[in-house]
Amino acid sequence: MRATVYLETFGCQMNVADSERADVRLRAAGFDLSGSPENADVIIFNTCSVRERAAHKVFTRIGEVRRQRIGSEPVVGVMGCVAQLEGESIFDASPIVNIVAGTRATDRLPQLISRALEGERRVLDLDERADGEVWDVPATARTSKYVAFVPIIEGCNKFCTYCIVPFSRGRESSRTAADIIAEIHELCHQGYKEIHLIGQNVNSYRPKTEAGLEGFKGATPFCRLLRAVATTGMERIKFTTSFPRDFNPDIVAAIDEHESLCEWIHLPVQSGSDRILRAMRRGHTVSDYLQRIEAVKNAARPMSITSDIIVGFPGETMEDFRETVKLVEQVGYDGLYIFKYSERHGTPAAKLNDDVSREEKSARFAELEEAQRRFQRTMYERYIDRVLNVLVERPSSKSESDMTGHSTCHKVVNFPGDSSMLGDVKRVRVTAAKQNSLYGEIISAP
Ligand code: 5AD
Ligand code: SF4
Repeated sequence: MRATVYLETFGCQMNVADSERADVRLRAAGFDLSGSPENADVIIFNTCSVRERAAHKVFTRIGEVRRQRIGSEPVVGVMGCVAQLEGESIFDASPIVNIVAGTRATDRLPQLISRALEGERRVLDLDERADGEVWDVPATARTSKYVAFVPIIEGCNKFCTYCIVPFSRGRESSRTAADIIAEIHELCHQGYKEIHLIGQNVNSYRPKTEAGLEGFKGATPFCRLLRAVATTGMERIKFTTSFPRDFNPDIVAAIDEHESLCEWIHLPVQSGSDRILRAMRRGHTVSDYLQRIEAVKNAARPMSITSDIIVGFPGETMEDFRETVKLVEQVGYDGLYIFKYSERHGTPAAKLNDDVSREEKSARFAELEEAQRRFQRTMYERYIDRVLNVLVERPSSKSESDMTGHSTCHKVVNFPGDSSMLGDVKRVRVTAAKQNSLYGEIISAP
């Protein structure tokens, strides 16, 4: 049966990468992909469970779709992290759902959909990956023609006490370097200008064999991988997320050696209080973290540093929070993702008494956000008159005569231009600083 599938993605880049893979597998199996849910025969939501609000979103969307599609009931599927965690209970919670496909079931999605189309009411797959599974996807399915996400490691073994990821994504599993490098060569060939090596903790990368890394020096497998990837000819290489405890200073040395390794590090700290870091079981202290930051700041090129912070973790006192604000001011982040602690069922922190009220969490969130906003304004203003190499990614959503892209330091940069420039790397002189972006003008032809 030829059917049309609409796939909607929530959450992190790993989910985006999984949806791209699902897209390829579905097309190969003869399905048509649709950009909107209105007329699709099958609607699949790829879900995120990292915070309560994200996990809830899918149920809101299912409700909306149900109201929109009264009388023409599509097959509805839930895949990804919520599917993995909630399993069969989703069928009871949302009776219009016919498919629940866990985080390891992406490649089997075509068969699962076919079963549902044939009338099976509750198609459930929470199984492991098939052996010999291929991770890479052809360019046709990629979200962008210029920037590609390349998963290198999936899952997490860290078990930070607040985090659901080790349960939704399972244990760490690294892809072989040979496989990663082959994919990047192919991306170079297709004209991609920038790749992001992605994983919950990229620097915990530990493949079963060193195949593909022979001859590359480096203090850890990830450092060897960085040096190997830097020799593929790919113009711009970024990686995210880095885990502080496993952040070896040799990563900075590799960046110094290779211009293609971009000057941006996302190194989440979560809290500036040692007491809270211990309760979170992060495996590092504030001082360990600052040592890593010091190494990054001593890099040959000026580096951008971004971070994640959780405010209102159970037991966080005003004093602990003050230490977080102090750390944020001390490091001076180029960007900060702040989250209010959200209790996730099944995590060790869910057993703690959450004594920080909702109002207090909101107040701390607002205060930290304001501190970061003030700092970011001055930090962005320092970019004025500097020249950045910007990859032209898309027309700006704010102005018809502007294009937008990212610098190698991962700042959003807008500038006058047109679609003929898409995919080019332009030298842009910054003329103005906005809250979360820079504005500039192109100064020379490529
Ligand atoms: N509550 C709030 N924020 C969380 N994060 C992960 N789990 C939780 C939680 N239970 C945040 C962390 C992580 C980012 C991806 O999401 O800051 O780095
Ligand atoms: Fe979650 Fe910690 Fe693993 Fe990050 S390192 S995914 S916060 S358990």
